[in-house]
Amino acid sequence: MKNCPQTSYSYHVPVMLQEAIAGLNIRPGGVYADLTFGGGGHSREMLQHVGDKGHLYGFDQDLDAIAGAPEDERFTFVRSNFRYFKNWMQYYGHDEVDGILADLGVSSHHLDAAERGFSFRMDAPLDMRMNQRARLTAREVVNEYSEEALERIFRLYGELRQGKRLAQTLVKARTVRPVETTGQLAETLAPLLDRSRERKDLARVFQALRIEVNGEMKALQQMLLAATEMLRPGGRLVVLTYHSLEDRMVKNVMRSGNVDGQCERDIYGHTPAPLAPIGKAMVPTAQEQTENPRSRSAKLRVAEKR
Ligand SMILES: C[S@@+](CC[C@H](N)C(=O)[O-])C[C@H]1O[C@@H](n2cnc3c(N)ncnc32)[C@H](O)[C@@H]1O
Repeated sequence: MKNCPQTSYSYHVPVMLQEAIAGLNIRPGGVYADLTFGGGGHSREMLQHVGDKGHLYGFDQDLDAIAGAPEDERFTFVRSNFRYFKNWMQYYGHDEVDGILADLGVSSHHLDAAERGFSFRMDAPLDMRMNQRARLTAREVVNEYSEEALERIFRLYGELRQGKRLAQTLVKARTVRPVETTGQLAETLAPLLDRSRERKDLARVFQALRIEVNGEMKALQQMLLAATEMLRPGGRLVVLTYHSLEDRMVKNVMRSGNVDGQCERDIYGHTPAPLAPIGKAMVPTAQEQTENPRSRSAKLRVAEKR
C-alpha cells in the first residue's frame, strides 16, 4: 500500500524541487526514473504526480539510501550505478520511459557522515566511495597515483589552477608517511592555498578526488547516452548539475546528442539531434540559496526527446 513518509531533510534537502517536477511534465500512468534517489525528496514528489497506474524506479548506488525508500507498490528501488540504467529498465520490461531525473553528485548525508570520508570538516579515513562495495578509495588515489595523474585530477575535476603544486606537495608528503585521513590531507595542502579561499579550494580538492574515486564523468556520459535512447518521443530529461564540467557534458548531450557537443549534419544539412533543450539552464531562487546553501552551485537543465 501507499506509504509516503515525509522526506528525511536531515538526509538531504531536495534542490529546485518544484522546477524539477515542472520540467518533467509528468503524465499520470507513465513510467519514470529518478536516477539519484538519495533522501528521496524528488522521488516522493514524483510519486504524487504519476497517478495510481504510474511507476517510478529510484536508483542509488549507496546502500544507505535504501532506508528511505517509500513502501509503495508504484515504486521500485534499484541499488545500482545509474550507468546500468538501460539494462535495468529492460530487465523490468521497459523499452522506453516517460521521464528521467538525475540530481548529480553527493548528498548531504555523504558530507555529514564523517566515516564516509567526503569532508574535511571532520577527520576520518580517506574513503569517498558512494558505493560502499567499490574497490577504489580516496586513500589509494592520494597515496598511489602518480604526480601527473594527481595534477590532472586537480586541474580537470577541481578546476584548480595550482594543480601542479598541490600534486607535487602531496607526493612529497607521502614519502614521509602515507596520507591516511581527511584531516591529514587538508593539513598537507592548506598551506598552499590562499587564506581567503582556503575552504573553497579545499572543497575543490575534495570534489576532484571524489569524482575520480567514483568514476563520475564516465558514469555520467554513459547515463546521458542511455537516457537519451530510452526516452519515448515527448519524454523529458531533467538534470541538476553542481560543477561546470558536468554541466558542460549535460548541455552538450541535450543540444547535440553527444558529449563533445558536435552536431552531426545529415545530407540535407539538418542536425538530427535526438533531444531538444527546453529553455535555458535555471538556477535556484535567491530564497532557496539562502535557506539551503548547498543549492548555490546548482543548475537545472531540461530537454525533450524529439
Ligand atoms: C544529490 S543526491 C540526490 C538527492 C535526491 N534528489 C534527494 O532529493 O534526496 C545524489 C545521490 O545520487 C547518488 N549517485 C550519485 N552518482 C550515482 C551513480 N552514478 N549511480 C547511482 N547513484 C548515484 C548518490 O549516492 C546520492 O545519494
